[in-house]
Amino acid sequence: MSEIGLGKIIFALLIVSLITYGEKGGETKVTIDLRNIVGEINPHIYGHFIEHLDRCVYGGIWRGNDFNYEVLALIKELYPPIMRWPGGNFASGYHWMDGIGPVEKRPARFDLAWRTTDPNTFGTDEFIKFCQLVNAEPYICVNMGSGTAEEAANWVEYCNLPAGASYYADLRVKNGNEQPFGVKYWGLGNEVYGDWQIGHTDARNYALSAREFSKRMKWVDPSIKTIAVGCDDPQWNWEVLRIAGPYIDYISLHAYYDHPDYYERVAAPLAAERSLKRLTATILAATGDNRIKIAFDEWNLWRPWGLVSALFSAGIFNMLHRLPKDVHMANYAQLVNVLPLIIADEKGERPTPSYFVFQLYRRHSGPLSLKVDVESETYVSRAWGGEIEVPYVDISATLDKTTGKLTIFILNRDKEKDRECAINIRDWQGKAEAEVWELNGKDVEGDVEVKEKGKITITPTFKYVAPAHSLTVIKFQFC
Ligand code: AHR
Repeated sequence: MSEIGLGKIIFALLIVSLITYGEKGGETKVTIDLRNIVGEINPHIYGHFIEHLDRCVYGGIWRGNDFNYEVLALIKELYPPIMRWPGGNFASGYHWMDGIGPVEKRPARFDLAWRTTDPNTFGTDEFIKFCQLVNAEPYICVNMGSGTAEEAANWVEYCNLPAGASYYADLRVKNGNEQPFGVKYWGLGNEVYGDWQIGHTDARNYALSAREFSKRMKWVDPSIKTIAVGCDDPQWNWEVLRIAGPYIDYISLHAYYDHPDYYERVAAPLAAERSLKRLTATILAATGDNRIKIAFDEWNLWRPWGLVSALFSAGIFNMLHRLPKDVHMANYAQLVNVLPLIIADEKGERPTPSYFVFQLYRRHSGPLSLKVDVESETYVSRAWGGEIEVPYVDISATLDKTTGKLTIFILNRDKEKDRECAINIRDWQGKAEAEVWELNGKDVEGDVEVKEKGKITITPTFKYVAPAHSLTVIKFQFC
C-alpha cells in the first residue's frame, strides 16, 4: 500500500474515532482501596426539605384537603430518608397550634416570611402522615423567631409523649393519633443570623436561647436530637458551639450557589466541601471533639435547571461521601415546586434532572465510603471566594459488605471531552460483571436521560471512558 493510501486510512480512522467517542481529555488515574474505609455514610445525607413556600406544600404535596398522591408516588421512588419541615424562613413565624385540630377551626394566618396567607390545613398531623406515607423520618424545625421555648417544648410533648402523659399528648390523641409520632430530629430555628429572618440576632444571643430551647425540649424527651443554626462564618459557629455545644447534637449549614457559567456551577460542591471542612475544624476547636455533627440541611443552586444542575447534585453527593464522619445529614432545598426535584402543576407531575441523581445515589450507594485517589486534569474556579482547583473527573466509591457490592460514581465535569479513567482496585483479585448506568444529555442546560449501558467486565485494573458532562455509576459484586 502506498504511503498516501495508508495516510488516508489513518485519517479516516481518526475521524471515525472522534465521531464515535468525542474528543478525549488526558487520562485520569484512579485508585480505590477496598481496605481503606473513610467512614460509614449516614443515609440522612440523601434527605429532603419541604416548606410552606410558594407551591411546595399547598399545590405540591397537598391538594385541596388531601395529599397529591401522584407527587407522593414520585417521592416514594426516591426512598426519602428524612424530611425537614415546616421551613425555612416560614418556621420563624409559625405557631404549630394553628395547624392542629379540626380543619374548619384552624385559623388562616398571614405569613410574614413569604407575605402570603397560610390556611393551616397542613399541620403537624398531616406532616407526620406524609412522612409515614413516603417512609421518611420527620425532622421539625421550631420557631425561634417569634416563638418561645415553652411553645417548642409543648410541640415535643404533642409529638412524642405517650397518651395520658400530658396535656399536649392527650391533645394529639384527641386529634386522632393515639400513638406518639416519635419525632427524633428538631431544628432550633432557622438562619437567624440574617436580617431576612424573623428573630434576627447575634451569635451570643442566639446561642443562649438555643441552649434554653434545647434544654427544655430535651427535658420533655431526652432521646431527641437538636440541630443548632450554624453558618459559613467561623465566628458565629464558634460562639454557638462554645455556649450551646453541650446541649446540641448537630450544627447546620445552608448553601445556595448561583453563577451563569457552567464550569463554576459544577465546581460549587468543592466550595461547599471547603465550608463543611472549616465547620468541622471549628467544631473540634470549640468543643475539643467531634461529637457534634453537621446537618447540611439546605443546599442547592438558585437556578437548578438542566443537566448542569444534575451534575452539581452528583458533585454534592461525591463530596458528602468524602466527609462521612462529619456530615450526618443533608437536605436538598426543596422537594416539590420550589427549586425542585419534582414539579407539580397544571401540566401534571414530573421529575427534574436532579431527581435522577437522587435515585441513582440512593439506590446504588453502599453504607461505607471508600478512600478514592483521583489524579485528574484540573481547571480553576474563581467564583466562590479565592481560587479552587477543580478536577474534571470527580469520583466516589462505596462498599456494601453484606451484599459484597462496590459502587463507583464517576462525575465528568468536562463539557467537551470524554475522559478515560484508568481504575485500579486495590486488595481485590478477580473478574466481575458490572452494571453501568449513565446520566447525560445533549446540552448541559437541557434535559437529562438515564441509560442502562449493559454489562461490562471489571478486573482489578480496568479502563472506562466517562463521556463529557456525565455521571456514570458502575456497580458490581466483588466478593
Ligand atoms: O429555600 C428557600 C429559603 O432559603 C429558606 O426558607 C431559607 O431557609 C433559605 O434562605
